[in-house]
Amino acid sequence: MEFTLNGKKTAFNGDSERSLLKVLREDQGITSPKDGCSGQGSCGCCAVELDGKTVLSCITPMKKVEGKAVVTTEGLEKRVQDALADAFVAKGGIQCGYCTPGIVMRADSLLKSNPSPSRDEVSKALQGHLCRCTGYKKIVDSIIAAGETLRTGKPLKLDPAALSGKVGARLPKYEARETVLGWRPFVADLREPGMKFGALRFSDHPRARVLKIDVSEAAKLPGVIRIFTSKDVPGDRTIGLIVQDWPLMIAEGEITRYIGDVLCGVVADSEDIAREAAALIKVEYEVLTPICDPHEAMKPGAPQIHASGNVLSVTEIKRGDLNKARKASAFTVKGKYNTQRIEHAFMEIEACVAKPWTGPSGKPGVELFSQTQGAYEDRKQVAKILGLPQEQVNVTQVQNGGGFGGKEDMTVQGHAALFAWLLNAPVKVALSREESLCMHPKRHPFEMEYELGCDQAGKLTFLEARMVSDSGAYASVGMKVNERAVTHATSGYEVPVVSLCGYNVYTNNIPSGAMRGFGVNQAAFAMEACMDELCEKGGFDRWQFRWENALTEGKITAGGEVLQKAVGVRSCLEAVKEKFQKAKFAGIAVGIKNTGIGCGMADIGRAKIVVEAADRVVIHHGWTEMGQGLHTMAIQSLVEATGLDLAKVKVDVRVETKNETPCGMTTSSRGTSLVGLSVLEASKKFKEDLTKHKLSELVGRQYEGEWICDWTTKVGVEKPGVPTVMHYSYGYAAQVVELDETGKIKTVWAAHDAGRIMNPTLFEGQVEGAVHMGLGYAITEDFPLKD
Ligand code: FES
Repeated sequence: MEFTLNGKKTAFNGDSERSLLKVLREDQGITSPKDGCSGQGSCGCCAVELDGKTVLSCITPMKKVEGKAVVTTEGLEKRVQDALADAFVAKGGIQCGYCTPGIVMRADSLLKSNPSPSRDEVSKALQGHLCRCTGYKKIVDSIIAAGETLRTGKPLKLDPAALSGKVGARLPKYEARETVLGWRPFVADLREPGMKFGALRFSDHPRARVLKIDVSEAAKLPGVIRIFTSKDVPGDRTIGLIVQDWPLMIAEGEITRYIGDVLCGVVADSEDIAREAAALIKVEYEVLTPICDPHEAMKPGAPQIHASGNVLSVTEIKRGDLNKARKASAFTVKGKYNTQRIEHAFMEIEACVAKPWTGPSGKPGVELFSQTQGAYEDRKQVAKILGLPQEQVNVTQVQNGGGFGGKEDMTVQGHAALFAWLLNAPVKVALSREESLCMHPKRHPFEMEYELGCDQAGKLTFLEARMVSDSGAYASVGMKVNERAVTHATSGYEVPVVSLCGYNVYTNNIPSGAMRGFGVNQAAFAMEACMDELCEKGGFDRWQFRWENALTEGKITAGGEVLQKAVGVRSCLEAVKEKFQKAKFAGIAVGIKNTGIGCGMADIGRAKIVVEAADRVVIHHGWTEMGQGLHTMAIQSLVEATGLDLAKVKVDVRVETKNETPCGMTTSSRGTSLVGLSVLEASKKFKEDLTKHKLSELVGRQYEGEWICDWTTKVGVEKPGVPTVMHYSYGYAAQVVELDETGKIKTVWAAHDAGRIMNPTLFEGQVEGAVHMGLGYAITEDFPLKD
């Protein structure tokens, strides 16, 4: 059959049921349409135009394409490409950008039929498109702005202040135009000559002894190159970010811990063959009853999921005389609060490409292209699996299509690296959406028992809390998440007497790990619920009660830190006071959230500034750009510190571990702080040199910066006389959710104090996206697991 692709006649002789998306991406090498849902037609990332109408290419079989015209972003008129790309970048309508090319195609169709759409009309047109990052507000702004450019022919004008490049400017996101149009590749878009494809065989049961893995049938399938089991791992099979408890593959004789455990992997000539072969592998099990409830797992005599026991961590904080405070309280409330497991739902599904590589030592190694939130962590763990020194592994950080914490743990990187190393050939391993949902860690479900008291005047007197979180099958960062919940148990309020205990417990559920908020959200929910109940009981005004008890300078957090400066809880509350008081039906809550890991763990940022030419200064760093605008933050920090002309400052967006700027995990605000602080450190000497030399005289020089916070206090090891410092900084918020007469959400008013705002456009994008994600968490999202 024939069809027209971006104006060119194109022949197709394959299976007429094959999806247009596969034909575009795999046969035609056009990767601007993205795959976010593995052919379910539910995310909109793959939208293209078919005879002028927007269709989802993943559910459009080729038989429906015959004789028609297909247009992707590559085929749009140049003026349309420019108008849309400029608008999305300037208005902040792009964060990670994985959803954006599909939205661009939808916007093109909309603006052709309706050149001046209202906000409602744009919102309606976007209904089939999921964006997990932006909260949509700025996407709507972008489409309206692009429409105006196309109507008037006048290009979008940027505020000249935005181009100062200094801290505080609305500098457009660095090199984001290509991402808007889908032309900057994500990992799944990469191809290597001679590349093979891997697929993983997962456990059929959450808890079962693997008696036998029979690969004989699968190995006979034409196109299968090799099948790998745990026996093939040359190094250490067990990995993990903090505790090494997560086997790359489960061996015969071992017991599985969850449905995402990998038993073996197939490499074949195509992904379809690899998947078919993986399904042909026969596994004999002795099926065991899974432990799905953390309380069951904590009972004496419960089967041990790990040899170390089922309780992964305990965090305890006690301050003051609890019984005395309870007796002296005029009002007390008690309750059990549960928060559910939820999924990050980043639009980009996990994938990794690995290939043979020769490092600086000349010894053979492996190079990985990863969307990880921590390239140096990937390097460490892959080197461990392969039994290689770290310098024989290079991890190239590819732009990340949304992480929210869910890409801190490795998923397929270790498998891809192993297959490529043993085959001495490039291998891609990509998960389907279903596999991704079953494999990567989720937000921790918590059960929180709270008892909170206050005196007659409404001053909080004590909090007793027991917080049990379900870590699932592996530790991930669960002990730190639980610890964070405990150290933020009183949220943005001072409670003089506390008795807090947190347990993070292994079960046979899908692991829990990092997710936006990292345990703090769960604690805030329990605390705010208690606050409202106390107000009802004592007849206190909900806003005033919060203001009176708010943390201020000199007051103590749940974690025992006496806050020293610029505590923003009250100013956030004041910002939403009128909205709350005028609303007929509204809820109110505050928040405090640490930046960085802290609690005794070092936060490390490193950056390198290289003067490459008289008109080119390049910043190298080790952090992950995942939508938050990290590269832009690095540039603004350098321009602010040195006064350099913005046009001369670039960022090496190809973060590679061989550049040796080792940093830890990128966890959004942490990345912003640490990239900025390390660039400022590197700028010190550079700035001094610039006072004595022209830039052209500094060509070839390098300036390295390191910012390490190693002064935080480990929970439970406070030293007498030494002030407790849990974190190097905090952010504060107050939000009001107003409902209409029918109980539907009318408006969310969000006030955030995040200190000096690096870039208001990007900052607003983070807040809007977080509000959107928070509403999902509060109202609609769940990830239930059944036995
Ligand atoms: Fe839409 Fe990330 S920008 S999913």
